[in-house]
Amino acid sequence: MKRALITGITGQDGSYLAEFLLSNGYEVHGLIRRSSTFNTDRIDHLYLDPHDPQARLFLHYGDLSDSGQVTNLVYNIQPDEIYHLAAQSHVRVSFDMPEFTGNITGLGTTRILEAVRRSGIRTKFYQASSSEMFGDAPAPQNEITPFRPRSPYAAAKVYAYWMTVNYRDGYHMFACNGILFNHESPRRGETFVTRKITRAIAYIIAGKQKKLYLGNLEAKRDWGFTPEYVVCQWLILQQDKPDDYVIGTGESHSVKEFVELAFKYAGIEIEWKGVEAYQKGIVKSLSCRLQTLASHVKVGDTLIEIDPKYFRPTEVDFLRADIIKAKKNLGWVPKVTFEELIKIMVDSDMELIGMNTPGEGKKALKEKGIHWTENKFILG
Ligand code: NAP
Ligand code: GDD
Repeated sequence: MKRALITGITGQDGSYLAEFLLSNGYEVHGLIRRSSTFNTDRIDHLYLDPHDPQARLFLHYGDLSDSGQVTNLVYNIQPDEIYHLAAQSHVRVSFDMPEFTGNITGLGTTRILEAVRRSGIRTKFYQASSSEMFGDAPAPQNEITPFRPRSPYAAAKVYAYWMTVNYRDGYHMFACNGILFNHESPRRGETFVTRKITRAIAYIIAGKQKKLYLGNLEAKRDWGFTPEYVVCQWLILQQDKPDDYVIGTGESHSVKEFVELAFKYAGIEIEWKGVEAYQKGIVKSLSCRLQTLASHVKVGDTLIEIDPKYFRPTEVDFLRADIIKAKKNLGWVPKVTFEELIKIMVDSDMELIGMNTPGEGKKALKEKGIHWTENKFILG
């Protein structure tokens, strides 16, 4: 039985990766932070009491700022594979907390790499690198595109990227960077833009929220479906040689397009009025289904407004992945499209607050051989 250690197991990616590795026979160890409230929602469905002979998921307290504990864990667990996903991962927050972000998102990687080196174990190491590192480098971006980071988060990730490369070259470690473009899912944190939008739609329809406040609507991202991306994280460590890979869909869309399609799928057509960066999203028309489901929403209502507090001092305008290398070496091609991703997330957020959904997200997954029950996705 292979043994994996996942840092960031309570996060979006960590939870799907744990699910994937457990279903492939791994013993999985996860690093979790002590918190005064439970922070294991995303993995509770995977957890068994450690005394249960069937238990293959084990959680350990630790923090990326504590190198002693990180070293102990790596040494005691002796994992075959380490997936280092933990980070302060919010770009906007990194402008407010640049030093903390450098410490956790940047130095956190060095602490794990050092723990591996000092404990002398042979393990494969995956670093969760990010398309954010490309900053304002022209799209499409691939493995040889120079990094031009535009946030404290991105600068910290660039440092961690190069530390990973240095430990691979200097100490012959099987250390790899997965440079992942944005990936989303029903388990995405609620303050990232996609989930913020789909959740707001469900809340507006349920009458629990009046408006959605956003920042820059023009930024373009290459958005994919997370359960497909964690398979790449695993594939990257299964290659004969350690290497770095760009993972994305190759398609890019603006935040505005995401808003329009998500509202439209839920039955609300949006039109934009007002000056450029401060446009308002107004209800142009409503589907029959929605007129019955949400009679409090009316044509002419303003549902979306811009709040400058969500603007970033420096923005990344345009990300689009060139995934030729991943296609060729990993044999990986994403199946879920942008429109399907939106439908899946809207369906899920509506379901979460007990509403009937249009159901097209589930249908699309089924057609692609991806099984979805109770927030779990099983890839065919
Ligand atoms: P996420 O949902 O924000 O999860 C972050 C994880 O890191 C959580 O488990 C969090 O624990 C943990 N963490 C944060 N600070 C920690 C600390 N000081 N010590 C130990 N654990 C800590 O992020 P994600 O979307 O799953 O992304 C996973 C990784 O991929 C991150 O490194 C992110 O930067 C990178 N990435 C993400 C994307 C994307 O589009 N999602 C794209 C490229 C790269 P708590 O639950 O306790 O907060
Ligand atoms: N979060 C947020 N909230 N973003 C908004 C909002 C808002 O209200 N309004 C507009 N945006 C814009 C942001 O300015 C950005 O251009 C875009 O929406 C996406 O923002 P996020 O969803 O926060 O993601 P991100 O691209 O900054 O970062 C994510 O992807 C990176 C990979 O490129 C995170 O997951 C990072 O951890 C990851 O590395």
